[in-house]
Amino acid sequence: MASNEFQPLQGMSDIQAPEIHVWRMMEERARALFNSYGFEELRTPVLEKLSVFQRSLGDTTDVVKKEMYSFKPSKHELAMRPEGTAGTIRHLAGRGEEGLNARVFYIAPMFRYERPQAGRKRQFHQVGVEATGEPNPLADAECIALQKGLLDSWGLTGSKIQLSTRGEPSDRQPVVDGLRAALQPFENALCEDCQRRIDENVLRVIDCKNESCKKIVDQIPSAIEFMSDASRAYLDQVVGALDKMGIEVTVNPKLIRGLDYYVHTVWEISHSALGAQDALAGGGRYEIALGKKAVPGVGFAVGFERAIMALEACGVTADQFAPKGGVWLVSLGEAALAENMKLAAQLRAKGIRCGMELAAKSMKAQMRKANRVGADSVIIRGDDEIEKGVAMVKDMAEGSQKESTIEEILRDA
Ligand code: HAM
Repeated sequence: MASNEFQPLQGMSDIQAPEIHVWRMMEERARALFNSYGFEELRTPVLEKLSVFQRSLGDTTDVVKKEMYSFKPSKHELAMRPEGTAGTIRHLAGRGEEGLNARVFYIAPMFRYERPQAGRKRQFHQVGVEATGEPNPLADAECIALQKGLLDSWGLTGSKIQLSTRGEPSDRQPVVDGLRAALQPFENALCEDCQRRIDENVLRVIDCKNESCKKIVDQIPSAIEFMSDASRAYLDQVVGALDKMGIEVTVNPKLIRGLDYYVHTVWEISHSALGAQDALAGGGRYEIALGKKAVPGVGFAVGFERAIMALEACGVTADQFAPKGGVWLVSLGEAALAENMKLAAQLRAKGIRCGMELAAKSMKAQMRKANRVGADSVIIRGDDEIEKGVAMVKDMAEGSQKESTIEEILRDA
């Protein structure tokens, strides 16, 4: 049988203890923070009609063109979500007026058929928010502040925020025309992909990683220079609002972001601990058209896997969040085993972490287990203690031991 019989698919992972404890810390703190900003949780299905993603992310984006897990079980072609915004907006658009002024968050797995490497997975997880409503620089700034607050709440330091603008929808054509004209003289020196991108999606030439393309891009005006004064003023207002909140950002006109739905503000957060895939979060303002409805909003998503890599570099590790403490029950004999089952249930009903062996084991073996699970105290009972209605209670930190009645144990628990 294949040696990978017990492995998940390439680019996917089983998430288990102790690592799971850092995931849970991140989820719990995210929920608490989002609640303080008035965001409600939303859980949309993993599967959507493929058209939901094609229309909002854009037909020519890498995610839609190359990375979708899609299939056609019956009439409609379906896809596993590669990100959270499209499905969220599909949902909010169906909620009528209220959906056009909503604040939701999600914590969910996403799927992209990418070539796996460090920090790049085929199933990864995002925590994200979407706030619908008309363009407003303060809403964009608040969203960035929330995202920064989220990273802070996890103990993540040293991340950098880069900001740019995609301009208003009416800037799109002047930007495309301006960039095409500026790139035309250099066309033959661009990489093969970018020669195609000039016609297909000229903005992607700007963030091409190829060295010769980068040199050409350095020589031409930035996309922002082809935008209206109003778009530039919008960007300035976002930067001004962030400055007032004490949030440091770098304006980088070459930041493009790989999804088509963005208008106005776009941003990315990177961390030096991540290597080639250094973006741990991204976000922006968007306008997503669904049928006759165009839903404006702003949001972000943080990738769990990449955030965890950055957290490790900051000294935040899963072990710090592993459950510890509680009580271990040691049973010497059949009668004690049965009585301890009852006592364990009573302690657990009080919310106490509590464990015991369910088969006869030596005292030594049971104490070893108590140490391994990190119990704060051990309750020891044999036939004598059962008869008298008492137990020996050992404090594991101090090593001291005293006799208590079961009533006292339950009362003090
Ligand atoms: P995105 O930049 O495509 O934006 O993804 C956000 C984050 O998800 C990335 O910064 C990264 O941490 C993580 N991520 C993306 N792809 C992978 C992968 N293959 N493996 C591991 N992590 C990955 C969005 O998805 C937008 N929906 C964000 C947004 C929300 N914009 C507005 N609202």
